[in-house]
Amino acid sequence: QDYKEQYRPQYHYTPTKNWMNDPNGLIFHDGIYHLFYQYNPGGTTWGAMSWGHATSSDLAHWEHQPVALEARGFPDNITEMFFSGTAVADVNNTSGFGAGDKAPLVAMYTSYYPQAQTLPSGKSVEVNQQSQSIAYSLDDGLTWTTYDEGNPVLLSPPPQYADQIREFRDPGVFWHAASSKWVSVISLAQLHKLLIYTSDDLKEWELASEFGPENAVGGVWECPSLFPLPVDGDGSVKWVAQVGLNPGGPPGTPGSGTQYFVGDFDGTTFTADPESLQQTNWLDWGPDFYAALSFSGLPDTERVDIAWMNNWKYGGVIPTDPWRSAMSIPRKLSLTTIGKTVTLVQSPVLDAGTCFSQHWDSVPAGVTKLKLTGKALDTTLTFTKSESTYFGIIVQATADFSEQTRIGYDFTTEQLFVNRTLSEVTDFDGSFPGVYSAPSPSRNGTVTIRVLSDWSSVEVFGGQGEVSITAQIFPSDAAIESYLFSMDGPTSNVELKARKVHSVW
Ligand code: FRU
Repeated sequence: QDYKEQYRPQYHYTPTKNWMNDPNGLIFHDGIYHLFYQYNPGGTTWGAMSWGHATSSDLAHWEHQPVALEARGFPDNITEMFFSGTAVADVNNTSGFGAGDKAPLVAMYTSYYPQAQTLPSGKSVEVNQQSQSIAYSLDDGLTWTTYDEGNPVLLSPPPQYADQIREFRDPGVFWHAASSKWVSVISLAQLHKLLIYTSDDLKEWELASEFGPENAVGGVWECPSLFPLPVDGDGSVKWVAQVGLNPGGPPGTPGSGTQYFVGDFDGTTFTADPESLQQTNWLDWGPDFYAALSFSGLPDTERVDIAWMNNWKYGGVIPTDPWRSAMSIPRKLSLTTIGKTVTLVQSPVLDAGTCFSQHWDSVPAGVTKLKLTGKALDTTLTFTKSESTYFGIIVQATADFSEQTRIGYDFTTEQLFVNRTLSEVTDFDGSFPGVYSAPSPSRNGTVTIRVLSDWSSVEVFGGQGEVSITAQIFPSDAAIESYLFSMDGPTSNVELKARKVHSVW
């Protein structure tokens, strides 16, 4: 396996082969980052959902591991699929799964039952029911044992939502030190509600509160999570709820997207700040950033997210083979007050050497060819408002411009944009070509854009990282040129810093 197939990401995680969706069970444990993910061991489209597994010591180089939780009955008679969920280290052995001195890792996930059945625990489930179950590992995440004598630990939603038995999923579990309880936030997908449960032992769960519907509700709510972060790096702590939405993503995108809320959590109830409810807060304004999840096991001041870099609208038909779907770059999260609003800021985790840098007092109107070539680049552009209406960079272009992806800034609307309409292969789904924008006010006229391009994606960060736009692209092998573009006039004080990102495989 040389990881050099057409479109194969060079520094984003992909499984060697087969279908992948949401990141699951992200946990930093004993110096190792674990990435579990929704995986179909049997093919390149969604099905037979299992938990795939990879490990890393630096969030850049990943080692593939055996499937952690394989769909029960795979391949011929699947009775249970392992849908999305999260993992924690049960350091005090509250669950009792520990052995000797060895504390267990515990995963909480959604069991999806394609057949009605009575389970080993004696509990009965209906066809297509979704319930919450747990599994544990005593070998640091390599192999897992499902808790069959008790699963599912949360059979059904509360009685008032009994009709949501097929729309109850994706537990986001964490330890809440102040109340000495486990907390799990679970989605009632169709109702746009998060149910917050608490537990002493990860086995018995009690409903504590509800949150939602709020802000974007154009689709189902999935993959919720809740975590604290200090504001502006000092002592005051706010809580962030992130929630996937499918469809109903950001304006101008098809299909799925991710929103977040900033507020407070007291161990039972999440209360969003009024400012956070004034408008939808998109974690990413592009089409390809879904089911974002952060690592457990890091200090509370450190949060790193990974998202599925694909979209339910066309995810099953993107032209890659023998794998389908990549993960986003890991992104360090922080909360920063911008204007008066506490905003989630993202910073990609990848080492930032510079090997190409250039300064222009003024870039003339039109296009300017760069000496920067290649398809896996980390590029930062800084420039100042001047006579042009748009300014930016064209990446993964052919010499005749028939293929190009434009990333730029619209000075009139103060928006960052990504245009993938000419990114080459776009016709596998009518909704794929598009232009995506994010509001990104300049700072005293100065604009900063960072672009991570890989063999089949661009991730664009505006300002300090308070907006991002993530979009897949499928350019030809010849599309290795880069250009600057300045529309309707020159652009001044342009600083470009870039480097080629090496393959991590
Ligand atoms: C989100 C999702 C989850 C579910 C999983 C199934 O992408 O639909 O709600 O658990 O995918 O693969």
